[in-house]
Amino acid sequence: MYKMNIRFHETTKTFHLFNDRLSYIICVLENGHLGQLYCGKRIHDKEDFTYLVEKAPRPMTSYVYEGDRTFSLEHIRQEYPVYGSTDYRHPAVEILQENGSRISDFRYVSHTISEGKPLLPGLPATYTEADDEAATLCIALKDPVTQIRLELLYTIFAGEGALARSARLVNEGSLPVHLLTAMSFSLDLPDKDYVWMQLSGAWARERHIKNRPLEQGILAIDSMRGNSSHEHNPFMVLKRPSATETQGEVLGFSLIYSGNYRIQAEVDTHDTTRITVGINPSGFDWKLEPGENFQTPEAVMVYSANGLNDMSQTFHRLYRRRLARGYWRDRPRPILNNNWEATYFDFTEDRLVEIAAKAKECGVELFVLDDGWFGERSNDYAGLGDWFANKDRLPNGIAGLSQRIEALGMKFGLWFEPEMVNKDSDLYRAHPDWILQTPGRRTSHGRNQFVLDFSRKEVVDCIYGMMETILSQSKISYIKWDMNRSITECYSAALPADRQGEVFHRYILGVYDLYERLTSAFPHVLFESCASGGGRFDPGLLYYAPQGWASDDSDAVERLKIQYGTSMCYPISSIGSHVSVCPNHQVFRQTPLHTRANVAYFGTFGYELDLNGLPEEELREVKEQIAFMKEYREILQFGTFYRLKSPFEGNETVWMSVSDDKKTALVGWYRVLNGVNMPYTRVQLQGLNPDMVYTNLRSGTTHYGDELMNLGLLTSDATSGEVPSGEKACGDFESRIYILKAKEC
Ligand code: DGJ
Repeated sequence: MYKMNIRFHETTKTFHLFNDRLSYIICVLENGHLGQLYCGKRIHDKEDFTYLVEKAPRPMTSYVYEGDRTFSLEHIRQEYPVYGSTDYRHPAVEILQENGSRISDFRYVSHTISEGKPLLPGLPATYTEADDEAATLCIALKDPVTQIRLELLYTIFAGEGALARSARLVNEGSLPVHLLTAMSFSLDLPDKDYVWMQLSGAWARERHIKNRPLEQGILAIDSMRGNSSHEHNPFMVLKRPSATETQGEVLGFSLIYSGNYRIQAEVDTHDTTRITVGINPSGFDWKLEPGENFQTPEAVMVYSANGLNDMSQTFHRLYRRRLARGYWRDRPRPILNNNWEATYFDFTEDRLVEIAAKAKECGVELFVLDDGWFGERSNDYAGLGDWFANKDRLPNGIAGLSQRIEALGMKFGLWFEPEMVNKDSDLYRAHPDWILQTPGRRTSHGRNQFVLDFSRKEVVDCIYGMMETILSQSKISYIKWDMNRSITECYSAALPADRQGEVFHRYILGVYDLYERLTSAFPHVLFESCASGGGRFDPGLLYYAPQGWASDDSDAVERLKIQYGTSMCYPISSIGSHVSVCPNHQVFRQTPLHTRANVAYFGTFGYELDLNGLPEEELREVKEQIAFMKEYREILQFGTFYRLKSPFEGNETVWMSVSDDKKTALVGWYRVLNGVNMPYTRVQLQGLNPDMVYTNLRSGTTHYGDELMNLGLLTSDATSGEVPSGEKACGDFESRIYILKAKEC
């Protein structure tokens, strides 16, 4: 058994990247470009796969070689195609040259195969900790006219059906060029027999699953907002129509990037499918001077022959262990209490300490002070940019408050929105030219705030200085980094006219730079990303912040869809999830306290309310919830997660997490509306050891693993019968956690 391998077959100029799960085969075509031969389940290696370059004379087709009526790029599957020299589909790269031409011709020059994986300077990317975890192929190509060198990086990971790709363009010529398109990933598939799945939504209803069959033409999701967006997550799945959670071929595509992006499938009228993933070409224009280079973000493709759960588990493992970094990567996350929904802007130091004290009494480990602690911030019209404590509310500053919280025996966390400024702030008054704004035009606001020009180093330096001061003077263990509006009228006062197409990307590089500096200087601080909830919940930020606030909608029923969709790509340990007050502040729904917790357990877990407001009985329940989470969070956050029943398909949702040794499993069962005289119900579990005997701690019954996985776990309750009443009664929004423990534990 091999972990992974990359072979080059000299006689056929073929590369085969493979491990136990995946084969990816490409070759050098007769014109020097790269052809795509196969992407799918592992097959045997051999010298010659070039029969897969199918060629035929076709009417109304243009051909590369005079006299040869078979070689047309329009009909050849490629790896990093260009437009306009016999291929009419959307390209992976487009370069505007000094003479106005956009034609390129990248021909193979050389390649290297190395162990491990290189870092991408200034950009988040997957990484290795030991050389035998991955192997990397770098193929160099060159355009003979512009002398632009193109380096395509391919990394295959040991034992995972995952391939990471990115591209680097180096100007080795003597004239500047403009990169108009520089995608991270391009793949031509031989058919279109797929269902496209995306995660879409809006503020407070992020990452809902949407499916539609591929058809001839173009299907795309993208962002042009400057952030990866609430609307469409930078993630897409192609699944065979018969694929399910547990079987069938699926391909997942994920971009490790937080800015404008596009993920597109172009199906031509011969039914081949071209996937492109990368920075959104719309609005992008990067000037590359002689001697300069441009590195694209990284895209990750996961192939699974065993359905969506297996694909998600691959993303979870890779992103949790080899994208997320730092002290908190492998540590169970502290149970926190955030004051936002408890107080909004209306608090004093004593009030905060009162909330924290009650939380401490219940077992909460971290108190987080949200928006409103700085500058003149008493509403959302003022203060952003002034990162020093508001002395009216916090007379002893953040240092004083953090000491009081620590004295309670808790850790202290703080909210920032580093990229933003209000016009009513000292920072804006001193530097009105530091915001993104187009000369002579109206500058639109969002939530009364403006976006700082993070493409400028002096701006990032200034914000770093203020944050560094607070962090070094106070006892801060956690930072929530928010971002509450998208970018409009994008233009930087610091860049010339022919570089304005770089601003969106430079902005995100500035965000990454600030994250990198803060996480390096304060390695023990836990960062949680946020953008009005889940507006920038993407793999790029996972590199710096191992968890993200998944949505501003904290209602348990709404969260079923949000967290279920999010789990398609993102590890459970990254999903910020809190119990909030009822009636819920977003949908005004009244759900039982246990259901709010049962949903939030499958995430980082915390509270978003003032526990002082709860009756004794509920406080007792909260204490039990916290004790439960402390006991099981390692399995909930780092175990193997399975989706069993989808909230998008019915009244019930079921998911579960299994410990690595398979001795403990936690099944979350949720029913939205109650019923009467309903069917008996059961659910087939996943991931157990078929030979182990598990005790169901709820019923006290024992079952073999194969029994629970085939015959199923019985979930029937008082709804199967007459009108439920008495002790066994259940209402709407009912839920349960089933704990299954193997006998010998
Ligand atoms: C949006 C976030 O998603 C909320 O949790 C909260 O931090 C507010 N911003 C504060 O303004």
